[in-house]
Amino acid sequence: MQEFEKMFRLDGKVALIVGAASGIGRSAARGLAAAGALALCADLNAAGAEESAAGIRAEGGHAEALELNVTDNAQVRSVVSEIQEKHGRLDVLVSTPAINVRKPLLNYTGDEFDKVLRVNLKGNFLIAQAVGRVMSEQGSGSIILFSSIRSVTVEPGQGVYAATKAGLVQMARALAAELGGRGVRVNCIAPGIVETPLTQQIKSQPDWYNAYANKNALKRWASADEMAGPVVFLASPASSYVTGAVLFADAGWTAIDGRFDPPV
Ligand SMILES: NC(=O)c1ccc[n+]([C@@H]2O[C@H](COP(=O)([O-])OP(=O)(O)OC[C@H]3O[C@@H](n4cnc5c(N)ncnc54)[C@H](O)[C@@H]3O)[C@@H](O)[C@H]2O)c1
Repeated sequence: MQEFEKMFRLDGKVALIVGAASGIGRSAARGLAAAGALALCADLNAAGAEESAAGIRAEGGHAEALELNVTDNAQVRSVVSEIQEKHGRLDVLVSTPAINVRKPLLNYTGDEFDKVLRVNLKGNFLIAQAVGRVMSEQGSGSIILFSSIRSVTVEPGQGVYAATKAGLVQMARALAAELGGRGVRVNCIAPGIVETPLTQQIKSQPDWYNAYANKNALKRWASADEMAGPVVFLASPASSYVTGAVLFADAGWTAIDGRFDPPV
């Protein structure tokens, strides 16, 4: 039976947020901590992760910082087993790491292709696998991976990034199928346009920035904090029957045409 007043609460839960030093990961960690979880803020950028954890503690929440490179399988495994030893459980994984090399496909080098795939697909695979093993033994958990509107709609210069974001969705669906019987849910969030360091290049070019704002139904960019609500929803009992889903937090980007509003 659903306890409605606790539907979005995560008290006593342990949440690992990878990519927590910046942007959406930092806001997700703050949102999860505000809902009562212990936020383990992990990132390649150790100083940034510590800054996020310190910020949460200053807000009255519980948080710790961890240094983690998701592309390093040995490190992924040892960090996850240290968490299990120290805290005895792991209830939520949010994984955000991604990089983008914006370039026409005909100009892409093999090394650039490998670099983007290594972080966006393999890194997220490695952390989801290590955490999935713990959760599946535990018999519960929620894994949240970050896809993008680029999983379904694309533009010049985003071919490789888009391929990784579509690939992540299929991997999450397969993991949802494999772990569902063991009480573990796996979902993706697909943001639209969010102001973070990842999109700084766009913000510095007003034509590009404004065209993106006008493409969606709300006619604006999102702040990173606006991604925290979807994360808390998918992490909490409120989404207990949601798995294998892609939650588009995109202000209608993928729902509407957006090129032109006819004079009607
Ligand atoms: N910002 C947007 O408009 C937008 C839109 C759609 C999807 N997304 C997706 O949301 C997610 C978060 O994006 P963001 O804008 O917050 O990005 P960001 O660049 O601000 O943050 C990414 C974080 O991941 C960390 N990271 C990178 N490589 C890592 C590694 N190997 N190991 C551990 N940490 C690593 C970085 O240090 C950084 O702190 C990404 O998956 C991105 O593709 C973002």
